[in-house]
Amino acid sequence: MAAYDIRVIGDPVLRQEAKLITDIDGKLVRLVEDMVETMYAAPGIGLAAPQVGVQKRLFVWDIGMGPLAIVNPEIIESDGEWTFEEGCLSIPGLSWEVVRPKLVHIVGRDLDGNEISIEADELEARCFQHEMDHLDGTLLTERLDDDTRKAALKTIRDLRLGQSAPAAPAGLSLPEKKELRLP
Ligand code: NI
Repeated sequence: MAAYDIRVIGDPVLRQEAKLITDIDGKLVRLVEDMVETMYAAPGIGLAAPQVGVQKRLFVWDIGMGPLAIVNPEIIESDGEWTFEEGCLSIPGLSWEVVRPKLVHIVGRDLDGNEISIEADELEARCFQHEMDHLDGTLLTERLDDDTRKAALKTIRDLRLGQSAPAAPAGLSLPEKKELRLP
């Protein structure tokens, strides 16, 4: 098993709609194993395939009952309201209070091709809705109200998330800020 690098906001792969999975085969099982390892290493409670650069409708999760995977998931019912401080491994270090349905009914397939049907509540329901968003190319920032989103995008820019720090050319060192100040 090998852990992937998790794609960070700004990466176009996170904005694309993932494709339906037509074959559940050994390759897909290995992908799931690697995604689970990546999720634990992060650490996180859920990870969608686009977050590791794979455009397939698949996610893994573990809210304390062991790792599970769902293929071609679909939320067929949702109900209630629940406020939760939500984060995303693709927007590392940040989180916002988001209101979403409290209960969801999700259906899909497991890795043997059998039908899965789960009625989830609170944390698990939140995890499902968040990962479903990833499969549709939607990021957490789009679930914020206008003002909060503007502030969030500014914070993300200021933190330069998704951009590597500018490297000084070899053999050159950048002057310290204080040396640029006039006495
Ligand atoms: Ni996420």
